[in-house]
Amino acid sequence: MSPYAHITGWGMAVPKRVMTNDDLAKIVDTNDEWVRSRTGIGERHIASDEESSATLGFDASIKALQVARLKPDELDLIIVATSSPEHIFPATACIIQDRLGANKAGAFDLLAACTGFIYALNIATQSIRVGAARNALVVGAETLSRFVDWKDRNTCVLFGDGAGAFVLQAGEQEGGVLSSVMRSDGSGGDLLSLPGGGSKHPATVESVREGLHFIRMNGREVFRFATRVMAQATQDAVEKAQLKIEDIQLVIPHQANERIIETAMRNLKIPMDRCVVNLEHYGNTSTASIPIAVCEAVGDGRLKPGHRVVFVGFGAGLTWGAAVAVWNGPTDGVREVLPYSYRLYTRLRSLARRILRRIEAFIWGRRYPSV
Ligand code: COA
Repeated sequence: MSPYAHITGWGMAVPKRVMTNDDLAKIVDTNDEWVRSRTGIGERHIASDEESSATLGFDASIKALQVARLKPDELDLIIVATSSPEHIFPATACIIQDRLGANKAGAFDLLAACTGFIYALNIATQSIRVGAARNALVVGAETLSRFVDWKDRNTCVLFGDGAGAFVLQAGEQEGGVLSSVMRSDGSGGDLLSLPGGGSKHPATVESVREGLHFIRMNGREVFRFATRVMAQATQDAVEKAQLKIEDIQLVIPHQANERIIETAMRNLKIPMDRCVVNLEHYGNTSTASIPIAVCEAVGDGRLKPGHRVVFVGFGAGLTWGAAVAVWNGPTDGVREVLPYSYRLYTRLRSLARRILRRIEAFIWGRRYPSV
C-alpha cells in the first residue's frame, strides 16, 4: 500500500510594513473605495530592504516545521513555488534549504505563477505516494512588490508580499491530500506576464526603459478566465477524490479578488461561509495566498481535523489547479523541536562549507581532478 501524504505542519510570515489603500492613493491615482469595491483589498504587506522571498519563506518554513515537530534534517524534499525568486539561479529553495540546515533534502523552485502552491503540493504528494520522499516541505514565497510598477494603478494595487509553508509527511492512515488537478493554457501567456529578465529579454538599458521588468496584465481577461477555471478545477478535483461538492467543509481559494471568488463559489453553489477570504489584509500574495489563508483558518478554528478542504488557484501561464485534502493536523508525538536553535548551527555549518570550498580551490588551483 502506498503511503498517504498528510499535511502535518503549516506556517506563514508577512513583512511588518503595511501599506493601506490610502497610502497607495498618495503615490498613484486611486482611492480606497475603488480598490475595495473592485477587489476586496484594503491593505497589503510590503517587504523591507532586509526581507526577501527567501527570508519570508524561511520564517514560514520554521513555523511549519515546529507545528509538525519535524527536524529540518529529516526533510527529503523542499519545493519553493515562487514567481519572485531571489535569483533565476540558485533556486530560492536551495537558499532556504541551507538556512534550515536541511542537509538531506533535494530542493528546487517551481514556477507556475499563482497556481504554484497547488502544483508544488501535488508534486510533493506524488513523491510521498510513490515512496520517493517521506517528509516534504512545500513553500509559497513572494516579494512581488519588487516587480510591480508603482506608477501603474492597474496592477500595483493588487499585490502584496508574504510566504506560507506546509510540511507533508507519509502516513499509513488514510487521508491527507486525496486528489489534485493541474491545468495550463499557454495561449493566454500574454494576459499576465513579466517579460524582462529571462533569456528572451535579458536586462538591458532598453528593457528597463520599456518597463519589461514589471508585471503586465489584462485585468478584464484574467478576471473572465479566473471565474471560469476556478469552478471547473474545484469540480474536477472533488470528482477525482470520489467526493461530491456537498462533502466539502471548506474551500480555500487563491486570494486575488473577492469578486472572482464570489462568482466561482456561486457557480459551484457553495455558500460563502464555507469559503475562506482574507485578501482584505494581504492583497494577492500569489503562491503564498493559499497557505496564508490556511494558517488563518486553522488559527480561528474554521479549519478543523477531519474537515475535507479544497485548495484552488489560478495564475499566469495561464495555469490553474485544485487539490482536495482531509485536514489531519500534526502527527502524534511529544517531541518538541525548536528549529530556531538550528539557526546559529546552520549558519556556522554553511560558513564552514564555504571556507572549506575556498581552501580546496586554493589547493587544487586550476587543476581538475584526473578522470
Ligand atoms: N484606481 C482607480 N481607477 C482605476 C484603477 C485604480 N487602481 N485601476 C484601473 N482604474 C480605472 C481604469 O483606468 C478604468 O478607467 P477608464 O474607464 O477611464 O479607462 C476603470 O478604472 C475601469 O477599469 P477596468 O479595468 O475595467 O476595471 P475592472 O472593473 O475590470 O477592475 C481589476 C480591474 C484589475 C480590479 C479587475 O479586472 C481584476 O481584478 N482582474 C483580475 C486581476 C487578477 O486577479 N490578477 C492576478 C491573477 S493571479
